Amino acid sequence: MIAEEVEKAAKLIKKGIQRDAILKRIRGYSPLTKEDIFEIAKARIRAAGKFGELTNKLFFDEEGLRYATPEIVARYRADRLKCGIIADVSCGAGAQLVFFGLTCEKVYGVEIDRKRAFLAMLNAKQLGLGNVEIIVGDALEDATIRKVSDAEIIFSDPARPPSEEIRTMENLFPNPLKVYEKYREVTSEMAFELPPQMPPERVKLSGLSGEKEYVSLNFKLNRMALYTGELAEHDVSAVSLPSEERITSEDERIKLERGELRNFLYEVDYTVVKASLLENLAGKLGFDGILVEQDSRRVLLSSNEEYSSDFLRRYEVLDVVPFSTSEINRKLRKLGARKVTLRFSLSPKEYWEVRKKMEEGLKGEKWFYLFRIGKKGVIAEPIR
Ligand SMILES: C[S@@+](CC[C@H](N)C(=O)[O-])C[C@H]1O[C@@H](n2cnc3c(N)ncnc32)[C@H](O)[C@@H]1O
Repeated sequence: MIAEEVEKAAKLIKKGIQRDAILKRIRGYSPLTKEDIFEIAKARIRAAGKFGELTNKLFFDEEGLRYATPEIVARYRADRLKCGIIADVSCGAGAQLVFFGLTCEKVYGVEIDRKRAFLAMLNAKQLGLGNVEIIVGDALEDATIRKVSDAEIIFSDPARPPSEEIRTMENLFPNPLKVYEKYREVTSEMAFELPPQMPPERVKLSGLSGEKEYVSLNFKLNRMALYTGELAEHDVSAVSLPSEERITSEDERIKLERGELRNFLYEVDYTVVKASLLENLAGKLGFDGILVEQDSRRVLLSSNEEYSSDFLRRYEVLDVVPFSTSEINRKLRKLGARKVTLRFSLSPKEYWEVRKKMEEGLKGEKWFYLFRIGKKGVIAEPIR
């Protein structure tokens, strides 16, 4: 019934009908009001990119959707935490929870917000999961802890403010340090999702120890998890999804020196830098080359050798010219270019202004990439 109402509301939203008019045409189902149903329908339309095939089955409120773990990450996490009984003690609307339901025998979901807990229950039902039990309550209360005391693994993905200068444990709810203290008597095997912007040293300083795993989704830092007790397999690791290629702090390190550009240019997934594993990546690859550039957004390496890794975007250097629009445009024409992607820092507005000038009069077929290294423009072609 709820599913039908949500679908009806979503159809009306897509038709462009105003909110007030839609509210008159749909019904609420306790504990969800008509307004909640409208919000869930809106969130479902937005969820399309995040959940793929499951999109049309799951229910989220706006905030629950913002928090929700993307499907590829949720599947990966559930696989790593596969066990008999797991308790997700801040389960939200259950995007991660339902995947635990697919890999573990029994799953507890604890959620303080009554409506979101209801959505988690609906989501488990939608996927036909009979092994999920939802508990409405505060994860830090003794009564809640008693209800999940047979759990082998405790998982928590705490809520955090949408943005803040420096991410700290104190602004996470429930606070992972408190969860760790309170649940230690249940198990020492816990996993926490922490703000991925936190460098490994800051996690260490917070007092929680274990493996800090930085997760990249399609070449972009997406999540960071801390695994405690027996769950920790390394000090620090980085994993690239969907391939699951991994580098760890135990991989051999190669010190990278600055130097002149060589035949191949490599853009490094920034996840590796956040995890402080750049030298380990070089070590794992046996990298014979140099560091061309490192700033707060981009790291470029170069070598005369060709390397392959999902943590690298690879390019062949075609030409190096003084960084002037006319010079670059002239060279691009000569190389038979039609388009050029700019790979240096520009505001979105500047990006298209500069790109338009660089692409003026190009009549060729090829698509190149342009890097700015100091005062030089580097024209390169991606290696697939
Ligand atoms: C980031 S969300 C979880 C998202 C979830 N992992 C998912 O993939 O959908 C965090 C949730 O923790 C809940 N929460 C905050 N403090 C809590 C507490 N003390 N006990 C239980 N739940 C809590 C919030 O209401 C919020 O829904």
